[in-house]
Amino acid sequence: MNQASYYRWWQREDLCYQQGRLCFAGRSVQALADQFGTPAFVYSAARVRDNLQRLHGALAAAGLAGQCSLHYAMKANRFAPLLTFLKQTGLCGIDACSPAEVEHAVSCGFAPHDISFTASSLSARDLAVLARYEGVFMDCDSLHAIRAWGALKPGTKIGIRVNPAMGIGRAANDKLQYAGEATTKFGIYWEQFAEALDIAKLYGLQVGKIHFHTGCGYLTPQLAQLEQIIAHCFRFVDAAGGVERVNIGGGLGVPHLAADEPLDLDRLAAALQRQFAGRGLHVEIEPGDYILKDAGLLLLEKTFVEQKKTTVFVGVDAGFNIAPEPAYYSLPFQPLPLCYDQSPCTVASVVGNINEALDVWYEGAWLPDLSAHTHLALINAGAYSAAMASNHCMRGQFKEFLLF
Ligand SMILES: Cc1ncc(COP(=O)(O)O)c(C=O)c1O
Repeated sequence: MNQASYYRWWQREDLCYQQGRLCFAGRSVQALADQFGTPAFVYSAARVRDNLQRLHGALAAAGLAGQCSLHYAMKANRFAPLLTFLKQTGLCGIDACSPAEVEHAVSCGFAPHDISFTASSLSARDLAVLARYEGVFMDCDSLHAIRAWGALKPGTKIGIRVNPAMGIGRAANDKLQYAGEATTKFGIYWEQFAEALDIAKLYGLQVGKIHFHTGCGYLTPQLAQLEQIIAHCFRFVDAAGGVERVNIGGGLGVPHLAADEPLDLDRLAAALQRQFAGRGLHVEIEPGDYILKDAGLLLLEKTFVEQKKTTVFVGVDAGFNIAPEPAYYSLPFQPLPLCYDQSPCTVASVVGNINEALDVWYEGAWLPDLSAHTHLALINAGAYSAAMASNHCMRGQFKEFLLF
């Protein structure tokens, strides 16, 4: 990537330089950093709504309007003002993956019947909490879950999360795949599916949904793979009989680098249209990343700039523990100066304040002379950042703001 592309690919109307100043959601990012202090996550409510509407729009254009629904995967970002905002848009339900997430979604205004629940390794305590929320739709991901839920709620309708042994993920990143050649804990494999149906029958459970989520971050080049996965999963639908809904999980990705092309939603919708045509099934999608990731920035204070051997390091006042995706999944969150006038940049490594070798935010950042700069902003920090933060080195503090 050269300097021009580093500064070009991510700019859009609500995130761009105006007269050399970085603006986001109609505000000067420098003014946000000065007012809020750092580290701080800022989220744009308008961008979140746009992302949901764009997805709905593509589905509607493919003739799937009444046949598809969206459940926001709240594990991506559970900031309470954001959840309340999402409820008010009326554009999505919730995908929850723990009893605490169900309680939190309800506390933010979602009704239990807005919530689809898909989790793994459920304890008796988890199940007892879930059973108190009449209307939450339970997707069972193991024989254990079917048995345990059946004992608590005999005669009810459930979903079964299946594992098609086929995965998907951004640029073949296998850390992002939940299914594939390696056997994973997620979902019930074909080899155990007949037994799953027998257990469901034993408790009088009706299998109304087949669910699969096989990986994260897919973009347009992976759509053919998604289609193959969906086609393959109809064997589970057909074997179960009486299935009304299919949940294709989340996994819709956003670009992280200049080389990434945005996910073509029209092609995604066309693929769904092709696969589900004439089947009379309702389709659920539960995206997290796609709704939130590019709607958030992480604002950081510059701490130092120093050359060590041949590498220029730029330090900032927070580390990978408050936004672990770059370190855990090699997903780059590109750093930006808050002022930029196209003057020549040097290549630097942006690093955090945690005593771990993996605490590198970004290698190969094109940054101008930062002597007069006080802050940087990282893009794509809206999902799986604050939600996955830890207090490692007792540096877990940050603020969050939802911008309207
Ligand atoms: C079952 C399930 N559904 C949906 C999602 C959301 O995925 P994404 O944020 O990639 O859309 C996840 C993420 O881990 C998941 O495990």
